[in-house]
Amino acid sequence: MGRICCAAPAKINLALHVIGRRADGYHELETLVAFTPYGDRVTVEAQPFGEQQPGGLRLTGPFAEGLNAESDNLVLRAEQALRSSVGGNPPAVAITLEKNLPIASGLGGGSADAAAALIALKAWWRLPETFDLSPVAATLGADVPMCVASRPLLASGVGERIRPLRDLPAHPVVLVNPGVALSTPAVFAALDRRDNPPIGLAGDAFPDVENLAALRNDLEPAAAALQPLIGEVLALLRAQEGCRLARMSGSGATSFALFDEPAQAEAARRAMIDSRPGWWCVATQLMPGEMTRRLCEHQASDTDQSGSQQ
Ligand code: C5P
Repeated sequence: MGRICCAAPAKINLALHVIGRRADGYHELETLVAFTPYGDRVTVEAQPFGEQQPGGLRLTGPFAEGLNAESDNLVLRAEQALRSSVGGNPPAVAITLEKNLPIASGLGGGSADAAAALIALKAWWRLPETFDLSPVAATLGADVPMCVASRPLLASGVGERIRPLRDLPAHPVVLVNPGVALSTPAVFAALDRRDNPPIGLAGDAFPDVENLAALRNDLEPAAAALQPLIGEVLALLRAQEGCRLARMSGSGATSFALFDEPAQAEAARRAMIDSRPGWWCVATQLMPGEMTRRLCEHQASDTDQSGSQQ
């Protein structure tokens, strides 16, 4: 029987432009998104665990304590949504969520977890390859469809319209969160303006670093006003040798910095940890499209290959 283990890569908004607002209050966006091999991990196996867990969800990993395993957890909502959408009462499952990403941090962790659960359950329930997860994903949150795609892309609409992009280099990247959570609705509500210029990308190539630098995260000023530590994180990242671009991701409070060489990213990570030991800081890389095919793996039940993080 075994189990199915699916990576839930961190999502990084390399640029995010807020270009309008819909009648339902959601914001029209254009965002350039990439993913990292570093992230959470969702494992699906047959019920029950040795001991029964509430709601069929077990939480592990360094950020497990910030979550609960109640039915409003996005992973369980994903399981329920896919179960209803396929019908026929597919077998009960036990799900384990290894939470390595900080909660409410602008890295799309909850959305990535929901997407990984959908991908793992599609495989576990042997749904046809052609079964499209996007409609179910869209009911779970604006970022869930892009996390199902988990590849370099441009998302528009409220985030649900996805255009795959090519030519993103595997840039080394450092992610830093100063240990504060930010509420996404609060950041959107604090925006000064909602009619900023679009990214306006022509073609299907991912912009290079120089062109990315000319773009923005329109949520950054609002988030930094709510949480001034974000300004401090960005200033420290920009002072690191080899930093090509530092910017906040999503609605914060995590920021990223792009480098050319892995050694520069690792040196920056060490320097950040030395100067701010309480901050969460990892060095990883952006995933070019082709790496994302390795997202999901079948494991035999008596082995534990629970996966190393890069
Ligand atoms: O869709 P999701 O639950 O991830 O969004 C969380 C909140 O973020 C929404 O309730 C909304 O306040 C805000 N949001 C928005 N415009 C978007 C995406 C999210 O206003 N495009």
